Amino acid sequence: MIDIDEWTITSAVRKAHGATSNARLKTVMDSLVRHLHDFAREVQLTEAEWSHGIDFLTRAGSITDDKRQEFILLSDVLGLSTLVTAQCNRRPAGCTEATVFGPFYVPDAPAYRNGDDIANGASGEPCFVGGTVRGIDGEPIADARIDVWQSDDEGWYDVQRPELEHAQGRGHLSSLGDGSYRFRSVVAVPYPIPHDGPVGQLLEELGRHPWRPAHLHFMIRAPGYETLITHVFRAEGRYLDSDAVFGVRSSLIAEWKRNEPGVAPDGTCMDVPFYTLEYDFVLNDSRND
Ligand code: BEZ
Ligand code: FE
Repeated sequence: MIDIDEWTITSAVRKAHGATSNARLKTVMDSLVRHLHDFAREVQLTEAEWSHGIDFLTRAGSITDDKRQEFILLSDVLGLSTLVTAQCNRRPAGCTEATVFGPFYVPDAPAYRNGDDIANGASGEPCFVGGTVRGIDGEPIADARIDVWQSDDEGWYDVQRPELEHAQGRGHLSSLGDGSYRFRSVVAVPYPIPHDGPVGQLLEELGRHPWRPAHLHFMIRAPGYETLITHVFRAEGRYLDSDAVFGVRSSLIAEWKRNEPGVAPDGTCMDVPFYTLEYDFVLNDSRND
């Protein structure tokens, strides 16, 4: 393969992929190279722009560690995360829709019982959350593992506060025999995705803001059912129409009801106003493939 030019380079690279016995890798890489080359030809990419792109990726790599994942952020703001989530989570009507995972899930979050306060000291107005987990035929799902995580009222997740020695605003609990779940926390607020790195700079240059509308994250797992990774978004508040990571689905928007001081759903006497959120989840049966 010599004398390769701007047109023959694509088939030359794809021919070089012929040696692999990994058919899926070949499919993915052939297509990636074809689209990448078409992109470079279409925009007539200059050497300076190519170099700028390499520098961008280098900076994304440098800022990435076990607490900060700039490449996931990049995928999120490019809409790739939402695209992959959507095409991998097509579900029958009636099932709760999935949305992006985000970078702030922690696998070893504390275990709680129903009714516990998962805020665990996170600042914010009190909020009582409850609902049910059911299957597509309406059957209650007992013992579903419900992971929940959220920011505090300043928009920070606990993992973004290095001074914290214990988890705040995250945990997992199990649905009860009738499929119900219930916990206390604080009201979610809008917050900006981490934007002090190359992705934030890109957003700024594109004239885009880094904000996400207020939401709670959920991951719900139960034997015999597909794992659901989703958010519940707060109906009141900004950015529902311009989420920086394109994660909002109208079926996931719910009202956080404001209540005057009084008796909370768990019987606690509240001497300050508090919020209540009821949200029911519907899981799809496991696929057998
Ligand atoms: C989040 O909701 O936690 C999130 C999602 C995508 C990028 C950054 C944060
Ligand atoms: Fe979030």
